[in-house]
Amino acid sequence: MKYLDELDLKNKRLLIRVDFNVPLDKNLNITDDTRIRGVLPTLNYALDEKAKVILCSHLGRPKGKVVPEMSMVPVARRLSQLIQKEVKLAPDCLGPEVKKMVEGMKPGDILLLENLRFHPEEEKNDETFGRELAELCDIYINDAFAVSHRAHASVVAVAKYAKASAAGFLMKNELKFFHQSMENPARPFVAIIGGAKVSSKLGALENLLTHVDKMIIGGAMANTFLKSIHYEVGKSLVEGDLTDMASTLMGKAKDLGVKFFIPIDCVAGKSLDAQAETKITTVQEVPRDWMILDIGPATSLLYSEALQDAKTIIWNGPMGAFEMEAFSQGTMNMVHTVANSEALTIVGGGDTDVAVHKAGESSKISYISTGGGAFLELLEGKQLPGVLALENK
Ligand code: 3PG
Repeated sequence: MKYLDELDLKNKRLLIRVDFNVPLDKNLNITDDTRIRGVLPTLNYALDEKAKVILCSHLGRPKGKVVPEMSMVPVARRLSQLIQKEVKLAPDCLGPEVKKMVEGMKPGDILLLENLRFHPEEEKNDETFGRELAELCDIYINDAFAVSHRAHASVVAVAKYAKASAAGFLMKNELKFFHQSMENPARPFVAIIGGAKVSSKLGALENLLTHVDKMIIGGAMANTFLKSIHYEVGKSLVEGDLTDMASTLMGKAKDLGVKFFIPIDCVAGKSLDAQAETKITTVQEVPRDWMILDIGPATSLLYSEALQDAKTIIWNGPMGAFEMEAFSQGTMNMVHTVANSEALTIVGGGDTDVAVHKAGESSKISYISTGGGAFLELLEGKQLPGVLALENK
């Protein structure tokens, strides 16, 4: 796979697939611009090299139709503020008017195409659509790690038809940190996996067990593990059909010599409600009509101890319902433990990223991935279609 800085960009039309799928509030203000900032190194490099920069992205899930609320207008405005330069917004991502705008570009110009997903062909990985995108440029760059698990036209088909293609710096960093931790980790290597459901992390758990020295479990998914060893978990979220799988995973961990940690106490609530009555209890004593909503203080201490000697840490998924103050302490404690660790620390997944930012600790993490689904697929040991498309060139 080639990288951006291995190609001659001068006067070239560069089509850069970025992931500007940023969160917007109801007034269409961007509430988190991390993904836009993430591509600035690639963008600034391309501008310095006097390329003509065409950016393309999706925003939201408009399902192949034009949805005005999902226009790239706020993104163009924010990007322009960040780089202090005009960013022209095309009325579409393809068509005669877009072609004309591209033909009129000068080196150092930036053109942002309208939402790719306004066309159904994008998500179908339509070959013609991919070829037409490729025809807009001399070089195709994929700097959209967070969407590279999607076999979509602007991620896969376009690379087949572009005259040349390469990965951008964000993609390079994402892959570098991930492979450094998974392929040749400094040990002990610890994975922290949280979130609501075992089912969504099953592939990641299975794959990680073959790499790590310790596995730490948090979030509502821990309830399924507790249930599998016959603890009373009251009204807690449990995936009853996965309790056998949970004990199989713990058995596999034992066979592989992986130390497997599940909570020993919790913060329970009468309901999943910010105002709910709460109590700290051991996992042996969760009342039948209560629910486990966070790991407890003894578990935080245990997990912090387990992380003391770590040399590599990968973390995906919160420890509890941290969006509610009453159930946020376990996740916040984990953020501080990971942030203060001397290990190489890699954090991925939307919620985990939000928690790290909320705690004000993002600068102390070695790498925060911009990918949610893409990061999880890497944890599952899968190859990303967007990366394969660049490698197959
Ligand atoms: C993300 O937010 O994870 C990426 O932008 C992919 O979005 P999608 O899940 O709508 O494909």
